[in-house]
Amino acid sequence: MEPTGLQGLEVLISEHEIAKRVDEMAARITATIDCSEAVAVVALKGALILAADLVRRLPALRAIDFVQARSYGHGTESSGEVRILRDVEMLLTGLDVLLIDDILDTGLTSARLKSHLESHGARAVHLVTLLDKPSRRRVEVQPLITGFTVPDLFVVGYGMDFAERYRDLPYIAVLSPGEEHA
Ligand code: PRP
Repeated sequence: MEPTGLQGLEVLISEHEIAKRVDEMAARITATIDCSEAVAVVALKGALILAADLVRRLPALRAIDFVQARSYGHGTESSGEVRILRDVEMLLTGLDVLLIDDILDTGLTSARLKSHLESHGARAVHLVTLLDKPSRRRVEVQPLITGFTVPDLFVVGYGMDFAERYRDLPYIAVLSPGEEHA
């Protein structure tokens, strides 16, 4: 891994690698669903950057909407309770949903959001995430596509934060243990 110049951060996935993979993800989505009948639902806040890059590579989406969930627990361990903080505004009845999230970790958030959007009448909910940490999974989730499989490291950048910092980094970096307290 390459140091970033910022203390305690090392690049795990470069800006160039992300752009190349997002191209491939967009191609897979376009080949699988009819975007003109699909609503992109962006899971705030972490998926903000991925969504901005991804939707500009998709042809004529029906709409873009936003949802926000929060997982409750102590420290890094989730209690399993996921609450919807912000709901979509659009009617989803009969439409395909492209649910865009930044990372698939335990799977609890994605599973909750998927069933929530289905309860809104979506015809199908297709999950897309940039990162996948399969070693952390607690519930089975089947994404349409994920960008990169990563080990159980604390990653930040490209939308992902630590205490609301680092979301603006154009690459994905690993935060060294202890540096989060710096
Ligand atoms: C992160 C991420 C996913 C979720 C994944 O959100 O954006 O939604 O956690 O974790 P899970 O698979 O274990 O449920 P976070 O709660 O950090 O909020 P944020 O997107 O606003 O940063």
